[in-house]
Amino acid sequence: MNATTADDVLNLEGRRVLVTGGHGFLGRHVVKALERRELDRVLSPSRAECDLTDRHQVLAFFKRERPDLVLHLAAAQGGVAWQKANQATAYLDNARMMDAIVDASIASSVDRVLFTASSICYPRDAAVPYREATLWDGQPEPAHLGYAHAKRGGIALLQAAYEQHGLSSCVVMPANMYGPGARFEPERSNVVAAMIRRCLEARDQGDASITCWGTGSPIREFLYVEDAAEGILRAVVRCGTPSPLNLGTGVETTIAELVDTVAAQVGFDGEIRWDHDRPDGAARVCMDVALMRERLDWLPSMSLGEGLQRTISWWQSFRNGQADT
Ligand SMILES: NC(=O)c1ccc[n+]([C@@H]2O[C@H](COP(=O)([O-])OP(=O)(O)OC[C@H]3O[C@@H](n4cnc5c(N)ncnc54)[C@H](OP(=O)(O)O)[C@@H]3O)[C@@H](O)[C@H]2O)c1
Repeated sequence: MNATTADDVLNLEGRRVLVTGGHGFLGRHVVKALERRELDRVLSPSRAECDLTDRHQVLAFFKRERPDLVLHLAAAQGGVAWQKANQATAYLDNARMMDAIVDASIASSVDRVLFTASSICYPRDAAVPYREATLWDGQPEPAHLGYAHAKRGGIALLQAAYEQHGLSSCVVMPANMYGPGARFEPERSNVVAAMIRRCLEARDQGDASITCWGTGSPIREFLYVEDAAEGILRAVVRCGTPSPLNLGTGVETTIAELVDTVAAQVGFDGEIRWDHDRPDGAARVCMDVALMRERLDWLPSMSLGEGLQRTISWWQSFRNGQADT
């Protein structure tokens, strides 16, 4: 493969692409999107084949398989409760993976690395919608400190590797994702999966009501996973310097709107109550997608209603053993 500079628009064709976390929620959709582009040289080792926290295994894997592009999607992560209870694990595992990946990418002269950071990296007091320029202006939300600082450290490492070694890379900051294959385990799921479970259980049990935490007024942004996969492939082709790029819809949805939509789609017609004594979390979390639109010449296309419908259908089939993860 010819040497790549940061300004090059890459051609994916003919390149060996390593997708870390390729068996995870987002990873599976990215691998499928690469396969749809008829790229047959896609590597997606499982954790058993290459534990990414072990730098010797990672170096050996790169030496053996010689990837040209690395899409680093693997992460130690979970829902808010998991992140709160596993701050050090989240930091250490994510930092070790990133160190190993960047080290091996430099040693193997990889053409470009893409890193998935997260909207959670933004300072808790950042102006909303979040703009990329404000990323370093303050501390992230304390509940996510370990995870968010490891991700921020990953961005800093890519910037250092770019300065010292000219390693071309790009950093995307995805919003909360949902879609087929999402994690539904209670300790790992996000609000979309949790609400789908809740409404389906209530419907199946014939409950007269469900009670949700808080007021329902917090605003969030949700990105359909296939749109995220498309954005990632566009980003790795077009962006070669490690300045963060938001990956979202810019569409704001209240938690109450989300629950109403999910309830209607699963056919739960009971009452939705709000327990105002429970915390709401941040009032508004949403990203500015102007830079994404300009640099990728693209906006996500899936509506929340259609995306939720597909997610619910998949989850129902999966629960009944009729769909893959
Ligand atoms: N989901 C979201 O809403 C969201 C939002 C913003 C950013 N992100 C970022 O997007 C990326 C993908 O997220 P996701 O939701 O697809 O995560 P996921 O479903 O939890 O998948 C993560 C993958 O990483 C793998 N992994 C973890 N530790 C590993 C290790 N030591 N060695 C090898 N593989 C390891 C996991 O393997 P196992 O299956 O063996 O555990 C899994 O396949 C992550 O970087 C995440 O931080 C996600």
